[in-house]
Amino acid sequence: MHVLAIAGSLRAGSYNRQLAETAQDVVRKARPDVGFTILAWNDVPFMNEDAEDPPPAAVTRVRTAVREADGLWLFSPEYNHAIPGPFKNLLDWLSRPEGPTRPSVLVRKPIALAGASVGMSGASHAQDQIVGMLSFIDANVMNKPRLSIPHVASQAKDGVLELTASAPHLEAQAEAFIRFLEITREGGWRQNA
Ligand code: FNR
Repeated sequence: MHVLAIAGSLRAGSYNRQLAETAQDVVRKARPDVGFTILAWNDVPFMNEDAEDPPPAAVTRVRTAVREADGLWLFSPEYNHAIPGPFKNLLDWLSRPEGPTRPSVLVRKPIALAGASVGMSGASHAQDQIVGMLSFIDANVMNKPRLSIPHVASQAKDGVLELTASAPHLEAQAEAFIRFLEITREGGWRQNA
């Protein structure tokens, strides 16, 4: 089983990327049998329908990474109570069908949502918008637990994330998402199993 993490920020010292790296450590420790990689996507160009066919090489690369993953774990900040523009752009590229008979790589993809922000919202406004987008795309969103980390700088020292209060919540989300992936793989929830 393989989890692909995507940080919604391109900033070199991004707290959200550090959160994805912390999640990677959590999963490697708790479930060494589960693969975990973090997607690099800073070479993805602006969406332009004129450039969709054939798609840019960077778009083909990220689509392949998403298609091959069993689940996506998104770690996004929010900009002005909304999805950061660059991350929305990436999701827009991923949302498009790959061809006349090939749907978007996001269709039915199991997805977990996490995020951190410096302000008090914990990027939850952006998460609400991402859920709306992913619902429209027919992705398979794990609606609970989501992870929101407000005032993230209070769990960091000199820009380096050192999760304290939120660490148990990250661990709980990792466990829940791996279970979600296992149940999805087994064919879904059974009411009377
Ligand atoms: C922000 N930030 C921010 N924070 C927040 O809690 N709510 C918000 O609406 C916004 N809006 C916002 C807009 C723009 C354009 C920027 C650049 C920043 C602050 C944000 O939480 C902070 O920069 C985080 O560090 C961004 O996440 P990364 O890059 O550290 O992952």
